[in-house]
Amino acid sequence: MPKTIIEPFRIKSVEPIRRTTPEERRRLLQAAGYNLFLISSDAILIDLLTDSGTAAMSTEQWAAMMRGDESYAGAVSFERFRASVQAIFGFRHVIPTHQGRAAERILFTVMCKRGSVVPNNTHFDTTRANCEFSGAQAVDLPLPEARQPALIHPFKGNMDTARLEELISREGRERIPLVMLTITNNSGGGQPVSMANIRAVKQICARHGIPLYLDACRFAENAYFIKLREPGYAGKTPREIAQEMFSYADGCTMSAKKDGLANIGGFLGTHDDLLAQQEKDLLILTEGFPTYGGLAGRDLEAIAVGLNEVLDEEYLSYRIASTAYLAEHIAREGVPIVQPPGGHAVYIDARAFLPHVPPAQFPGVALAGALYVQGGVRSVEIGTLMFGEHATMDLVRLAIPRRVYTQSHMDYVVEIILEVWRRRAEIQGLEILQQAPFLRHFSARLQPASAASK
Ligand code: F0G
Repeated sequence: MPKTIIEPFRIKSVEPIRRTTPEERRRLLQAAGYNLFLISSDAILIDLLTDSGTAAMSTEQWAAMMRGDESYAGAVSFERFRASVQAIFGFRHVIPTHQGRAAERILFTVMCKRGSVVPNNTHFDTTRANCEFSGAQAVDLPLPEARQPALIHPFKGNMDTARLEELISREGRERIPLVMLTITNNSGGGQPVSMANIRAVKQICARHGIPLYLDACRFAENAYFIKLREPGYAGKTPREIAQEMFSYADGCTMSAKKDGLANIGGFLGTHDDLLAQQEKDLLILTEGFPTYGGLAGRDLEAIAVGLNEVLDEEYLSYRIASTAYLAEHIAREGVPIVQPPGGHAVYIDARAFLPHVPPAQFPGVALAGALYVQGGVRSVEIGTLMFGEHATMDLVRLAIPRRVYTQSHMDYVVEIILEVWRRRAEIQGLEILQQAPFLRHFSARLQPASAASK
């Protein structure tokens, strides 16, 4: 076998990207209140804001979209979607939603009430917000190792099972309507959860009669890490590993915008007939009839095909290798990153990168701004702006869209990061001018911290 890992596809349709000057970007950043969510994508050269909804679809997906059945009820596209989901995830009920957070909202509305407590390895921002919006308390139980960015651990996404036991005995089983595991753990650095941990969490849940839900957004990448790193799985296919992962779960939430290789979509899975009925009733209220759930028939078709393509071993090998490539090339020059690199993204440790900027001055936001000004690269802060007092780290995530950028794009990103690394002492902290009561990172406006103190 040749050693070079190549992109396992060729490119049929191209999308031009536009160059801007550093002066232009400095002006745009200031006008956007130092918030990269508020910058137009045509002023971005390489967009690593998210791997969500940004995948390039395959010829097979585009072909399937032509078969999209747009019937309001009983669409055959839904049947194909459900068959594809059930073959991997196994849940008796599959409820389509327009994206992951819609599944979260429905799940928490049905399962939680004021005073409920929902443990997770680490809640993603929308998961935490939807959980809290239902009146419940979202509790993160990552491993202690997960809070140390430089520490290498094969399954840094694992839940701390001792703390889960403690939480259940402290709060009482009645207050905990479900336990969640986010695979891979996005907010914790895109780190995988081992099969042993999923099994251990399930055993604890089963002993207390609490259902286990997987936040399955990046299930294929998690399955591939299990194949690479967990004893006993090297000979299994990613599909077999995924099937085993879901065999321990009572349900899942899924954003098909990640490992569904689709630009929109998601679903809620459950084995529970009663819950499924309540969830479908709510679905009709805001998302749509249960055979489309806020999606077009053609979106259901794209997901049905994408879920199979994402489990292709050659695709997963290329995917994990391209993330590792970016990580290695910056880490070997001293850039502090979360180790080992995750599946979908490289996370820079902004507190270590900018030790002169205290967490209260948003080092992650400041660093993301500097990368934009330097080279038109857009990333996202996962830290104090996103999570407020719940933030234990300030990370800058460089999320890699699936099948979109080539190795030379990654070489360019490496060059820009290293240039910012050399000039890190010049980067200033920020302070908030304006913010929303929840999910503030999407719309907050900031300014350089020194400007206000003058
Ligand atoms: N759970 C996880 C772990 C996620 O990463 C996301 C989205 C969601 C749930 C919500 O899914 O966007 O379809 O509503 N993450 C994106 C990101 C937005 O950039 O990481 P959604």
